[in-house]
Amino acid sequence: MPDIDKKGIFGYFGGGLRDKVTLVRASGDLDADLTHRGNRRKFKVPGRARDSAGRSHVGEHLRKERELQHGKREKGNGPPGLFSLKEKAAIVTGGGSGLGRAIAKGLADAGAWVAVADISKDSAQSVAKEIRARKGQAIALKLDVTQLTQVEAMAQEVQEKRGQVDILVNSAGITFRSPALEYPEGEWDRVLNVNLKGTFLCCQAVGKAMVAQGKGSIINIASIGGLVGYGGCIAYLASKGGVVQLTRGLAVEWAKAGVRVNAIAPFVFDTPLVSQIKVREPDHFQRMIDKAPMGRLGHAEELIGTAIFLASAASELITGHILAVDGGFLAQ
Ligand SMILES: NC(=O)c1ccc[n+]([C@@H]2O[C@H](COP(=O)([O-])OP(=O)(O)OC[C@H]3O[C@@H](n4cnc5c(N)ncnc54)[C@H](O)[C@@H]3O)[C@@H](O)[C@H]2O)c1
Repeated sequence: MPDIDKKGIFGYFGGGLRDKVTLVRASGDLDADLTHRGNRRKFKVPGRARDSAGRSHVGEHLRKERELQHGKREKGNGPPGLFSLKEKAAIVTGGGSGLGRAIAKGLADAGAWVAVADISKDSAQSVAKEIRARKGQAIALKLDVTQLTQVEAMAQEVQEKRGQVDILVNSAGITFRSPALEYPEGEWDRVLNVNLKGTFLCCQAVGKAMVAQGKGSIINIASIGGLVGYGGCIAYLASKGGVVQLTRGLAVEWAKAGVRVNAIAPFVFDTPLVSQIKVREPDHFQRMIDKAPMGRLGHAEELIGTAIFLASAASELITGHILAVDGGFLAQ
């Protein structure tokens, strides 16, 4: 493979991303510097000609290769094979609201059967109903993630119903804001119990099934608060830091068993959890938003692509990764 530096790639490919990728792959067996025009002619590297449908030959080559590897594109509006979740069984804890709700709907749109699990049965039912109204498949489960017996019963119910469990998204979470010097012990326990212990119990119960079946993808919803510090919510930060390390530890422990464990670290998203803070502490809220280079709140739907990516074959070599969806916050 020729050693083409970035300038060379841009100098030659210049245009759309698809063509850049395709040309690198198409020329993988060449031992030549493709930044030289002479070599490009010599090896007949395809140009950017387009067919009558406006598709580049190069893009067409990559499409065919992908179709061979990952099956034909799904019918309708679903994602292509690489990102398809057809025939997959997913559980989304905290699926009754906010990020969990958006992710549950997104996974269902990508073809997954989804168990929407939440401590609020009404919320879980309403999201499952929304999914079914969009011709997706979903059931609602009442679940308190801090209760081992409930968590084990949930894992068993999904296995009995579907014969397998392929995806677990741990989105159940709470917060409590108070200066650290006055932080109530009871609130510390409550936040750590739901966010950290609850995530672990779900990983453990569902992980057992995944390890036994030799495959599965777990996605923990951590937070940028698990990676950097800020004031006023010490138990939350500690719990999310714990989720980050839980993710890495389980990823290492279960990698050879075929189970991937990753986390998403969102910045500030427009959900009921955050709207309380927006109302009670508008200055703190605005300061947080202003710190992100993109300077705006995230919308729950903006996590769907990330969740589908981590749940699907598109990320099959990725485990133990903490993927920040943060408008550039951590780039500073
Ligand atoms: N919204 C954000 O800006 C943001 C940023 C970073 C991380 N997160 C994380 O994303 C996750 C989802 O947060 P959200 O903003 O969607 O909040 P949300 O309040 O809208 O949703 C949380 C859901 O978890 C459920 N839940 C709470 N305790 C539970 C328990 N013991 N068992 C089962 N379900 C329980 C709630 O009923 C609710 O439906 C949380 O883990 C949160 O820490 C959110």
